[in-house]
Amino acid sequence: MKGVLFNVVEEVVDETLPEGTWDRALDSAGVRGAYTSLGNYPDEQLVGIVGSISEQSGLPVPDVLRHAGQHGFGHLIERHPELVGDVDDLPTLLAQLDAVIHPEVLKLYPEATPPMFAVESSDDQLTTMRYTSPRQLCFLAEGLITGAADHYATAVTVTQSECVHEGGTSCVIEVRYS
Ligand code: HEM
Repeated sequence: MKGVLFNVVEEVVDETLPEGTWDRALDSAGVRGAYTSLGNYPDEQLVGIVGSISEQSGLPVPDVLRHAGQHGFGHLIERHPELVGDVDDLPTLLAQLDAVIHPEVLKLYPEATPPMFAVESSDDQLTTMRYTSPRQLCFLAEGLITGAADHYATAVTVTQSECVHEGGTSCVIEVRYS
């Protein structure tokens, strides 16, 4: 996983959780930290850090990932505003994720392996998209989508109708506009 993702999670933890949480998470995951945005780090390090944040905060792991995504979205686009500069609403962002945004991410972060998002259907009430990644970070994806909805001041409910963590072969994320 790219260091920038670790950087964003650290920022969210520092802003929203008690002081010392990040350092204790590093200790308990047995990692040194000091992530550089362009570096590549083992996924297990993120899993260890998130696990410790879960223990410290009492939030289940899926909720820690949702929280990191929701509050981290703004930090991601602060770093790269040009990636969403032409995107005026959430459905367009979701439609462009696979074709434009993550491919652009690959140019900025060589050796990144972003996930796949295939929009299966979209209308003014509901966008349905299939998320596929060996990392199985669908809850982070849910949170990033919620953070993007906040960014566009759009009220949404994000759920999954199928999930690898519930025996599915991949994850189907449903974004309902309310
Ligand atoms: C709603 C919008 C977005 C969603 C749902 C989303 C989802 C995700 C998820 C779930 C991952 C974790 C890796 C995985 O699942 O395999 C990821 C990775 C990543 N995303 Fe996005 N993303 C979004 C927008 C963005 C934007 C705007 C940026 C701009 C910088 C970005 C940059 C990255 C980077 C750098 C990675 C790391 C890839 C790697 O380590 O190999 N994403 N994204």
